Amino acid sequence: MCGIFAYCGPKDNAGELVLSGLKKLEYRGYDSWGVACKNTDSEITIEKHVGKISGVDHLNKDLTDKPCHIAIGHSRWATHGGVTEKNAHPHSTEGNEIVIVHNGILENYEELKKELESNGHTFTSETDTEVFAHLIQENMSDGFENAFKKALKQGKGRYALLAISKDQSKILAARRGSPLIVGINEDAKEYFIASDIPAFLEHTKKVMYLDDEQMVSINDGIKFFGLNTEEEVQKRIIEIDWDIESAEKGDHPHFMIKEILEQKETLSRAINQEEDNILEAAEVIRNAYGTYIVGCGTAGKVGMVGTYLFSHIAKKHINFMFGSEFGSFLPFMKDKSLMIAISQSGETADTLEAIEEAKKKGVKIISIVNVETSTMARISDIVIPIKAGPEKAVASTKATTSQIAILTLIAYACAGKLAEGKKLLVETASQINDMLNPRYEGYIREVAEKIADIESMYIIGKDLNYPIALEAAIKLQEVSYIHAEGFAGGELKHGPIALISEGTPCIAIVAEDETKPHILSNATEVKSRGGYIIGVAPENNSVFDYWIKVPNAGMASPIVSIIPIQILAYELAILRKNNPDMPRNLAKSVTVK
Ligand code: AGP
Repeated sequence: MCGIFAYCGPKDNAGELVLSGLKKLEYRGYDSWGVACKNTDSEITIEKHVGKISGVDHLNKDLTDKPCHIAIGHSRWATHGGVTEKNAHPHSTEGNEIVIVHNGILENYEELKKELESNGHTFTSETDTEVFAHLIQENMSDGFENAFKKALKQGKGRYALLAISKDQSKILAARRGSPLIVGINEDAKEYFIASDIPAFLEHTKKVMYLDDEQMVSINDGIKFFGLNTEEEVQKRIIEIDWDIESAEKGDHPHFMIKEILEQKETLSRAINQEEDNILEAAEVIRNAYGTYIVGCGTAGKVGMVGTYLFSHIAKKHINFMFGSEFGSFLPFMKDKSLMIAISQSGETADTLEAIEEAKKKGVKIISIVNVETSTMARISDIVIPIKAGPEKAVASTKATTSQIAILTLIAYACAGKLAEGKKLLVETASQINDMLNPRYEGYIREVAEKIADIESMYIIGKDLNYPIALEAAIKLQEVSYIHAEGFAGGELKHGPIALISEGTPCIAIVAEDETKPHILSNATEVKSRGGYIIGVAPENNSVFDYWIKVPNAGMASPIVSIIPIQILAYELAILRKNNPDMPRNLAKSVTVK
């Protein structure tokens, strides 16, 4: 949800460096983009455009003609104000005195704006962000740092904010609930600020973390402060072990297919991690008075799979709720309750808010996250990293299967059978390795070609694969833009079956277990009404019009069942000429409520 990138250092092409860094953050927002360069003549020049940054080779000459050592940039996912050049960031006060970029929402912007307007400020955009620039300017007589702090104190909401001033050779940055990381090349005295690490990986692997309610001031040195204190905060430099290749597309046409194919390895990485973590989580769950899994979107569907896994494997009732709906269940949270938060990014605002509210009640938090440096990881009591490596396509794929694998392990550990769970998952990973080959992809492409022009499709599953039917629908919706809906197979006859007509595609996820006759019978009900049945199953069946074979994986059935549907969604996106990495209206991590 909006990408921020900034450079401050000795190189004199800061604008171009920011342009290139922003391209690596485009997955966070791609409605519009902009860069501001502060040149040595105490001038700030801004360029902004509607549309994607990926095709842009160079900035305009007025940003690159003069040497520039400080630049800030932004790629936007619109919240307040339409997708227009005027609403694109950076935003500024008159004469570009103060220029800012912002990720998040300034909740009380309307009242602040009214007050500023009555003090003579004129606004040029419809955004909440512009208010911050004017708030800073309003207090500049107290000094840039103090004006910045004051503005942040007046603002309500979650955000990451960067500001530069025409007359000062520094960047100020602060965060409250939205990600912002500083990259450092000590020898070259270069500093980068970004919403995510891959943006500056080619320059440095050394980072310093900015925590919530903290700000950083960067010129030819770096200083961190608390937003509510005067004292400097001491920070450590941490070396991260991400490699550049894992954050790039390589030979693949899109990140989505690269990440789908990476599941051969990512699953093994998730399984072969610290056993102590898994055992500790299982112990905490065993002793908790009520465990609540929380997540949003795909991570939410993973959480739902978790409830079935714990029921079958550990004979334990675990609750699930979407992060955005969690507030209604807060009254049940006691200090002995437990929350398991699931997230790829670790920055999803709805999930973070659920955690924060639960923490206020003394609830212990286990997080299952991919980005180990994320806010979620930093505020949790126990962190189980899924080790999937950077996931850049908006549609989550490899993180999904790794998260399911971790929940499966914890459920087995809860039942005192961790070794059994590990064995099952290791076998499954090896079967996925055999399954993910070009022939398999080609076979799925064939069915995609058959259904590429349809308007609606349905997915049915039962038991562990009911949430997978819901997740399959998300995958198909977000990249193919086909109206797709997932149902529990047994629920069709209570209403949704009215939607089936001649040729309506319906994916039936059929596991080789006691649920098989039931879901096959549901598929037959659809077929009898003209439906075209695509079976995702270990065994073929006469009800299937098209059969996509998956391994017989027992409790790991959700993992093997979702992978061919991820491929199908990708192939449909390509056939329908959609960009699967950057679907319309979406952003990779949703850091606003
Ligand atoms: C997944 O394909 C979606 N893009 C989306 O539902 C995502 O899973 C959701 O926004 C939660 O994100 P998180 O895992 O980073 O918390």
